Amino acid sequence: MCGIVGAVSTRNIVPILVEGLKRLEYRGYDSCGVAVHAGGELRRARSTSRVAELDAQVHKDAIESGTGIAHTRWATHGAPAVHNAHPHFSHGVGDAAGARGRIALVHNGIIENHDELRAELQARGYRFDSQTDTEVIAHLVDHCYDGDLFEAVQQAMQKLRGAYAIAVFCRDEPHRVVGAREGSPLVLGLAADGANFIASDAMALAGVTDQIVYLEDGDAVDLQLGKTWITGPSPEGVRKPVEREVRTVVAHTGAAELGPYRHYMQKEIFEQPRAIADTLEGIVGITPELFGDGAYRIFKEVDSVLIIACGTSYYAGMTAKYWLEGIARIPTNVEVASEYRYRDSVPNPRTLIVTISQSGETADTLSALKHARALGMPHSLTICNVATSAMVRECELAYITRAGVEIGVASTKAFTTQLVGLFLLTLALAQVRGHLTEEQEGDHLKSLRHLPAALQGVLALEPQVIAWSEEFARKEHALFLGRGRHYPIALEGALKLKEISYIHAEAYPAGELKHGPLALVTAEMPVVTVAPNDTLLEKLKSNLQEVRARGGELYVFADGDSRIEPAPGMHVIRMPEHYGALSPILHVVPLQLLAYHTACARGTDVDKPRNLAKSVTVE
Ligand code: M6R
Repeated sequence: MCGIVGAVSTRNIVPILVEGLKRLEYRGYDSCGVAVHAGGELRRARSTSRVAELDAQVHKDAIESGTGIAHTRWATHGAPAVHNAHPHFSHGVGDAAGARGRIALVHNGIIENHDELRAELQARGYRFDSQTDTEVIAHLVDHCYDGDLFEAVQQAMQKLRGAYAIAVFCRDEPHRVVGAREGSPLVLGLAADGANFIASDAMALAGVTDQIVYLEDGDAVDLQLGKTWITGPSPEGVRKPVEREVRTVVAHTGAAELGPYRHYMQKEIFEQPRAIADTLEGIVGITPELFGDGAYRIFKEVDSVLIIACGTSYYAGMTAKYWLEGIARIPTNVEVASEYRYRDSVPNPRTLIVTISQSGETADTLSALKHARALGMPHSLTICNVATSAMVRECELAYITRAGVEIGVASTKAFTTQLVGLFLLTLALAQVRGHLTEEQEGDHLKSLRHLPAALQGVLALEPQVIAWSEEFARKEHALFLGRGRHYPIALEGALKLKEISYIHAEAYPAGELKHGPLALVTAEMPVVTVAPNDTLLEKLKSNLQEVRARGGELYVFADGDSRIEPAPGMHVIRMPEHYGALSPILHVVPLQLLAYHTACARGTDVDKPRNLAKSVTVE
């Protein structure tokens, strides 16, 4: 999703800005741009192509400066077009028609009252060249400007409603960039040579500085050469200077090597044994303290769990519900974050709120967490892949998965490591609640530790999956079936397929088939089934017969001993091992591979599927 980089320095910072955008590219965008302060005027380059093209454009136009801002945009208001790309310039009332304005601004987020502000600013004589909500902020800052950009931004903040992170500079103040945030992430980076940086993610500044300040909601920051200044809201309603901790952050670069792989998604699927081993590293036994200091007291206090997440992380939560209720015997609800935050729900103060997020910056999940707390549920824990993210900072307790940077938009290794984190949480809660004997703990740990080896066996099935994918690539629809804890795995398999191959895919609990979706079954509708040898296998086999009887083509992932044999219309891939409670972690992998190879066969942009962003930082 949108990305911001900005800088004030004595050297030309354009290469750093462009490099920062490249590091944020994996998040998804449809246009990009850079603007600089150049000899008393604002200059910019914008493109609806890739950052590499923008780079060529800035070289060709010799855009250079020590002060500038840059942006990757994921369209919300207004089509992906050059005139809507950021940075936006203000056209002040005093400017001659067509003259370049004095404010340059980039923005992540959504301004909810943009229509109202636009009307006010138009009435004051401001001209709008784009359909974006961002241009409204540029004009608003211009309107508030009276010789001090920091003051102007703080005044403008009072009028903005919605979520935003902005970076701004002004034609009349050559060595100054101002940033502000409310609901969208923004960091300040401090370099040893007196240069100061601003970015939506510390990763954009990897290799530039590791001295990072995470700004908080309501903060505004003034960047000048060799000095910075932060103000934040105070309980009395006036803005005051605030101190924010400077952290040393070793950001992973987004530009990880592809190695022998064709796409990051494929690489990330194959990294899962390593990612799970890393996530389990150092765990010698189950203890609540794995989730942070004070976890024992909190786990003792809570009597239910509410999981909040989006997309793939939500399906991880759905899987965990089976473990939490079945093993830890704790009532668990799982909610889609964007629904929960607007639903009239009944809070239970003894609930443990568990957020799940790869990025830790998903706006819907963050807002749902704040909503849950505002309803009077104080205890929160996150399973998150980014230790420095807003989610980790917002939650009382955390388990950091060690998937490593995930670049492919379609989440893979983040999902399986989330499941590992959630299984550990299940065991810790089971222990505190008296449902875990030492012997059971030992058995579960043994199974967890064997996961990387078991996953290698599953990854070796790739050639068989490729053979299936050639069939799938010719289809426009697919149905996924699972039962019990494998129903969320079927949902995840369908999500992966639709995200990257653009094939319409739906998932159902297999028992629901005859209540409606069976009507869709024809020879043209492949039916993918997750069929491990568990207590529901015999029921599932009856569901498969219902499909066969209607001429449906079945593609079944079965265990060796499940006695599901290949036959006409019944294609079977055998999983190498039966894995009990942890079986969802193994069964999702061939579904990831199926989606991946089907997308490759269809020639889609696997790592950057159309319309999608990696990190969804707007509502
Ligand atoms: O970073 P998060 O885990 O909070 O992201 C949640 C979803 O946006 C994400 O899982 C999305 O559904 C993926 N594209 C799925 O592959």
